[in-house]
Amino acid sequence: MKRTAPLLLLILILLNSCSPKAPATPGAAPTPTLPAAIYPDASQPIEARVEDLLSRMTLEEKIGQMTQVEMGSIQPADVSTYFIGSILSGGDGNPPNNTAQAWQDMVKGFQTAAMATRLKIPMIYGIDATHGNAHLYGATVFPQESGVAATHDPALAQKIGEATAEEMLATGVPWTFSPIVAVPQDIRWGRTYESYSEDTQLTTEIATAYIKGLQSLPAGVKTSEGQSLFTLATAKHYIGDGATIWGSSRTGEYLLDQGNVQVDEATLRKLYLPPYQAAVDAGAMSVMASFSSYRGTKMHAQKYLLTDVLKNELGFKGFIVSDWGGIDQIDPDYYTAVVAAINAGVDMNMVPTDYMNFINAMKQAVDDKDITEERINDAVRRILRAKFALGLFEHPYPDPAFISTVRSDEHVAIARQAVQESLVLLKNDNAALPIAKDTPKVFVAGQGADDIGMLCGGWTITWQGQTGNIDIGTTILNSIKTLVSADTTVEYNPTGKFSGKANTGIVVVGEMPYAEGLGDKADLSLSDADIQAINNMRPLVDKLVVVIIAGRPLVITGQLASADAWVAAWLPGTEGEGISDVLFGDHPFVGKLPYTWPRTNAQLPINENNSDGKTGCDAPLFPFGYGLGEAGSQPIAQPTCP
Ligand code: BGC
Ligand code: BGC
Repeated sequence: MKRTAPLLLLILILLNSCSPKAPATPGAAPTPTLPAAIYPDASQPIEARVEDLLSRMTLEEKIGQMTQVEMGSIQPADVSTYFIGSILSGGDGNPPNNTAQAWQDMVKGFQTAAMATRLKIPMIYGIDATHGNAHLYGATVFPQESGVAATHDPALAQKIGEATAEEMLATGVPWTFSPIVAVPQDIRWGRTYESYSEDTQLTTEIATAYIKGLQSLPAGVKTSEGQSLFTLATAKHYIGDGATIWGSSRTGEYLLDQGNVQVDEATLRKLYLPPYQAAVDAGAMSVMASFSSYRGTKMHAQKYLLTDVLKNELGFKGFIVSDWGGIDQIDPDYYTAVVAAINAGVDMNMVPTDYMNFINAMKQAVDDKDITEERINDAVRRILRAKFALGLFEHPYPDPAFISTVRSDEHVAIARQAVQESLVLLKNDNAALPIAKDTPKVFVAGQGADDIGMLCGGWTITWQGQTGNIDIGTTILNSIKTLVSADTTVEYNPTGKFSGKANTGIVVVGEMPYAEGLGDKADLSLSDADIQAINNMRPLVDKLVVVIIAGRPLVITGQLASADAWVAAWLPGTEGEGISDVLFGDHPFVGKLPYTWPRTNAQLPINENNSDGKTGCDAPLFPFGYGLGEAGSQPIAQPTCP
């Protein structure tokens, strides 16, 4: 026993003399001996490329990949200096000259800066191309999501995805923050129109098809070796954004948007998780975290739901992007918020403006061991995986060949078909519809009859959207004029005032454009102006048709009897002629309600999950899935209610 101590000492001395010597020049960094880079080689498997590239990256380069900056808040030079991994256009992030060429030039400017970095890692540009690449002037604007769901036609949703992808690439943008796969249970939410349906299965079917359309490599389009994604879709906002409680939002005047969800986990999984599982299975490589909270904790800080459920249980291999400044909402102390979000599983931060603040917080968190480099590696791996799958390393720059797809005949035809199929016939008495094309005289009223901006809604050119002549397209009025016989007289007056009488009157009513929580609204009644237009027109026409332009059901109970026919047309986009096609019988009504139609404001929220057994005046005006037109569909006899 006594000899043990000197023996140990001897071993230690020997071990020490065997360890590598300090570098000859004091202060010089040891040169890492990495094998030749394989990540630029497109014939290598993506996982091998990811690991190879990751092994070459410094901490600064990794943090840069996790940083997404809004286009107006950064100069290209800083993209190089800070290795910024992503740039986005927010709802109002258009280049000053809103043409496809100007978009390509802008994206190219940022990409040139990214490609000037040591490792030449391309940045990825993202945008909300939610109903077509609708921020681009002159793009094909498809119906908003509630309208797409009304078609109940996944194959059509897939075609919309493909066409949208092409018009994104026309602007040089390979990534869209869509689709919203919320399953809204309360139509007072301002994002109801951006969501497909209150029904989990319908949402899942339509969203999955749309994701496939965006992401699948189309036949005949030149792609690069190793590329497996055409463009990148984002399933959002994970999870429960359609389930918030009225009045629970802490954001400004918002009521439901960004609020709190209190359902139990079984309900969360049953109603809101299936679209994510389907999206993951369909190959979605990006998911956006929700501004909302689950049981009082912001989703951006929910490690169990983000990491354990989405990444580990559902097998999501892509990356989680934060929502716009969503991390900041976790905690008033930014450092605390960043640590919580990244450790919960957020991989990329939509900062969106003060990127130095984020980068510094990340560096400090690594220094202080609040975030491990292992977590950062996991985040960067996921981001790089998507970039390789998109073929960005081979083709980082915008491809001018896609510019000619903008508003191509083929895309416009898909949009028009979508409008035709989305229309839901709510009532049709006295055979008011279809209208004969040789009707001698037609009166048309309502602002929506002659307003492209109103047809498009929010997220069109600008974040909130705008009324008026904001984009190229066909209004309802113009297409009626084109469609009717040469002998038909069509007169238009927004307020429904005409001299004389007509055989048929069409009043177009609805909502003015809005986006997000600014559209949270307790009162979904028709506006006074709309009711007045209906009342003005009624005595002047034999048959009265009302068309509703709104992304969600409106309360029309008091006016229902005043018109012979009622049509829900959602927010159809730029191809207003799809509406005239159906009104005048060139295409049948096939749409079905994606949301329960309320009888009163007081009934809200009402949906298929809480209206079971409600009858008479307690029942909704029209149930989920309702729609006349197809053989066998029956009108609902409405009770007389107080
Ligand atoms: C941006 C949108 C963003 C919103 C967040 C707007 O200024 O344009 O993209 O969604 O702010 O509140
Ligand atoms: C919205 C997101 C959107 C983001 C970027 C946020 O305000 O909630 O849906 O993708 O802005 O525009």
